[in-house]
Amino acid sequence: MWWENAVFYEIYIASFADSNGDGFGDIEGIREKIPYLKECGVEALWLTPFYPSPRVDNGYDVSDYCAVDSQYGTIEHFKLFLEEAHRNQLKVIIDVVFNHTSTEHPWFIESASSKNNPKRDWYIWRDQPTNWESFFGGSAWQLETVTNQYYYHSFAKEQADLNWQNPEVKQAIFEVLLFWLDLGVDGFRFDVINNLTVDNQFRDNPNEETGEQQHLYDVNQPGIQSVLKEMIQQIKEIKSDIFTVAEISSDSLPIISEYTRDGLFDTAFNFNLGSIEQLDLKKLTNEFKKMTEQKGRPTFFFNSHDMSRSWNRLAKEDSQVYQLLAVFMLINRGIPFLFQGEEQGALDYLPQSIKDVRDVQAKNKYQQLLSSMDEEQALIQANQVNRDRSRGMLTWSAKSDMGWIGQSPKNPEGEQILAVYQQLIQLRKSEGPFGTVTGITLENECLSYRVDKLQIVLNFGQQTTEQIFEDAAQTIFGTGRVSSNGQSVSVPPKSCWIGKDNG
Ligand code: GLC
Repeated sequence: MWWENAVFYEIYIASFADSNGDGFGDIEGIREKIPYLKECGVEALWLTPFYPSPRVDNGYDVSDYCAVDSQYGTIEHFKLFLEEAHRNQLKVIIDVVFNHTSTEHPWFIESASSKNNPKRDWYIWRDQPTNWESFFGGSAWQLETVTNQYYYHSFAKEQADLNWQNPEVKQAIFEVLLFWLDLGVDGFRFDVINNLTVDNQFRDNPNEETGEQQHLYDVNQPGIQSVLKEMIQQIKEIKSDIFTVAEISSDSLPIISEYTRDGLFDTAFNFNLGSIEQLDLKKLTNEFKKMTEQKGRPTFFFNSHDMSRSWNRLAKEDSQVYQLLAVFMLINRGIPFLFQGEEQGALDYLPQSIKDVRDVQAKNKYQQLLSSMDEEQALIQANQVNRDRSRGMLTWSAKSDMGWIGQSPKNPEGEQILAVYQQLIQLRKSEGPFGTVTGITLENECLSYRVDKLQIVLNFGQQTTEQIFEDAAQTIFGTGRVSSNGQSVSVPPKSCWIGKDNG
């Protein structure tokens, strides 16, 4: 399949490229950047939601699934962009948010209008709330005063969860998928798809000793997989090479991989690896080993619009470490997902004042913290979960005044980093698609593995390392030095080596 060796590139539209100078990225902006994206070597784009939305959660609160928000352009702009992307052999996958709609979606407005409305059962209504917590903090239930019942929202209160037990909801969503398939998109990224169904007895979630809630009855419920299978089968019947990637709100590999079994998604985001809080080589190696034992192709990424940038979080602003992570991600058996700006080492953006914070999760956190600390402290702590960090405007669009959000600071080493990414992507194209990973070892902060005919040595340590091989190999990337008999290599501190078997 086309996606097995592709390098994906995530575009967070609002912060990517602003074609009309209004401070927001837009679809025309993406179209103008197609030559740049081609030059980078990426082969598929993932567009975050661009549908009409009140943008409480920046587009993940959709009020019309089959249109384009006027902030980002029109459906004609989208068609033009898609056509041009395809002409340039770029595939395009779009983000679909089916767990919830905006409370401004006509479906919800109808549903909320009376208990007898035909769409009442399209959402989850109850007389009494459970103790379930929203993923953005606080109760997941909101009292709606017209009918005096609570509706369920696993994210912000403006994002009401759809009731997937209702066959009409399934049918309506299938029609949305058909609409975009018809326009010619190449795949879908399914947002928080393991949240779709909830416990039908509405049991309270248990709390852990720390007081933190265990999400036992509001995610990964029995029966969810058959709902998903049905949806995937329907779209694969229409277009067999359509690519489906699941976002599972979990960093546990066993849970994530439940969703990539036969008949389910082609792959899922491996947060078990991608969202690690710091560079812990033991953890990284263990997760990598487990991912390798699995049948399907995992995803490899260290950045997204939901986490701090890996330049700050993992590489701690060290470009050598950053490069090692890029090699790991790109010269491997998984499907790599880059996030806009990563290829130039973009930095985290941190708002200095609460009025500049845009992320709903950080805003909620700030409000909660205010009851126990002063404003300055609350901002510092809220910034620790602030997803604005990776959402700063990319500098090619930046105006001197602030757009919808501040700028992601430019990396002075950006050009060199870009050159490395380009080289690695080319290498992936010429040597891939990669089949089998073997020999994963971690010794003295040096991670090495084989993928098909390539031997990869990533020395994260402060000492030069010496590695011996059975087969003679020649250098194809990196600063390691092969011995004269071609059977050992020495790799300097914080450097790498990729060798290819001779013959
Ligand atoms: C996903 C998105 C995130 C959004 C959430 C709710 O996790 O990546 O940005 O806030 O779903 O839709």
